[in-house]
Amino acid sequence: MILSRRIALVTAATAALVLGASACGSGTGSQAPPGPAALEGVGPITLVTGKDTSGNLQNQVDEWNAAHADQLVTVIELPEDADAQRQQMVQNARTQSDAYGVLNLDVVWTAEFAANQWVVPLPEADFPLTELLPATVETGKYFKRLYAVPITSDGGLLYYRKDLLDAAGLKPPTTWAELKDACAKVLPGSPGTACYAGQFEKYEGLTVNFSEAVNSAGGTVVGDDGRPTLNTDAATEGLKFLVDAVKSGEIPQKARTFKEEEGRRAFQAGELLFHRQWPYQYAKAGATDGSSAVAGKFAVAPLPGAKGPGASALGGHNYAVSAYTKNKKTAVDFIKYSVSEDQQRKNLEKSSQAPTWAALYDEADLVAKFPYLTVLKKSIENAVKRPSVVKYQEVSRAIQEAAYSAMSGGSTPEDALKSLQGKLESLTQ
Ligand code: GLC
Repeated sequence: MILSRRIALVTAATAALVLGASACGSGTGSQAPPGPAALEGVGPITLVTGKDTSGNLQNQVDEWNAAHADQLVTVIELPEDADAQRQQMVQNARTQSDAYGVLNLDVVWTAEFAANQWVVPLPEADFPLTELLPATVETGKYFKRLYAVPITSDGGLLYYRKDLLDAAGLKPPTTWAELKDACAKVLPGSPGTACYAGQFEKYEGLTVNFSEAVNSAGGTVVGDDGRPTLNTDAATEGLKFLVDAVKSGEIPQKARTFKEEEGRRAFQAGELLFHRQWPYQYAKAGATDGSSAVAGKFAVAPLPGAKGPGASALGGHNYAVSAYTKNKKTAVDFIKYSVSEDQQRKNLEKSSQAPTWAALYDEADLVAKFPYLTVLKKSIENAVKRPSVVKYQEVSRAIQEAAYSAMSGGSTPEDALKSLQGKLESLTQ
């Protein structure tokens, strides 16, 4: 049962306000979800997550299991693609199955899972929320209540081949024009290397890359009131950057099928000069075991934009407790363990994923070891949230279709945005 029937497309900042108002005033039967329930039950649980591309999750679980023989955690891995993960979690929740215990939710799914009561409200006092980056904590809330605890954050970064830029006497680009110029200078001497890729397959990653292009041209996908704002020159300029880069070959055709892992493999094989990617790539591309051809040859910079540095979309993952799992106390304790400073530090050191524990970004020894932390913290602090809305999947699918069609040459950027604006307007009525 959906508690809030109105499809309100609202930014996270205004979500509680707008949805709260509709709950009080519309007479549609909407109501705020119930407060924290007693979270009882001790015993084995499952941790359900998208494919662990970090490679460190099982280590964390093994450490927990070694100390909790009667509360063993078993990892259930879902596909790599965010939309496919969500689909399996939704299907499982609809059958009210107790097979899923702790859910590793993408930051954009909180509203849907909370409104449907597929996950339970959590007692805030049980978690060290004040130690975490504030933007990440907001992503775990719905109607101002905590439903999910931030475990990893994510901010988009521009990975670049420092060796090739250095050899050409170039600094990392801060604008799209500089990025294109750098490609024009460097690539003729680097056969087999293409200019730029991000996540351009038709899935959540494309929503992220489209939103970043719009934000990085000074536009927004939705305004503070939650209504779409894609009928602007800035939004058109953002989408045009992607469309023109495909046309001119700066984005190679192959990259139109890239999700995170395909792009990472290409960057690691030395096939890209620039790659828009999340922090987890840093450890893998830097591995010195022979698996990466670019270890020691790359660095990261903020995403470039139309006239200066761009703005990332806020990514990340939060742990929530399924409403249908029996052992809810164990689930909460496992979340406390996972969000602890100790586990966040270990995960950063092993996987280079973005911690949610704020102080780790400023620790001198960590910054010396992981120089990208400074750029990453800025990327997360300045990141723009994707819409926080119960029917997020419909909104995201409309964005993916518009961006994909324009990048395939099936529609002009102007027509794609006009039609997308119309769709989002009707979804937010
Ligand atoms: C990363 C981000 C997540 C985003 C996804 C898109 O996993 O953390 O927020 O939705 O990428 O592919």
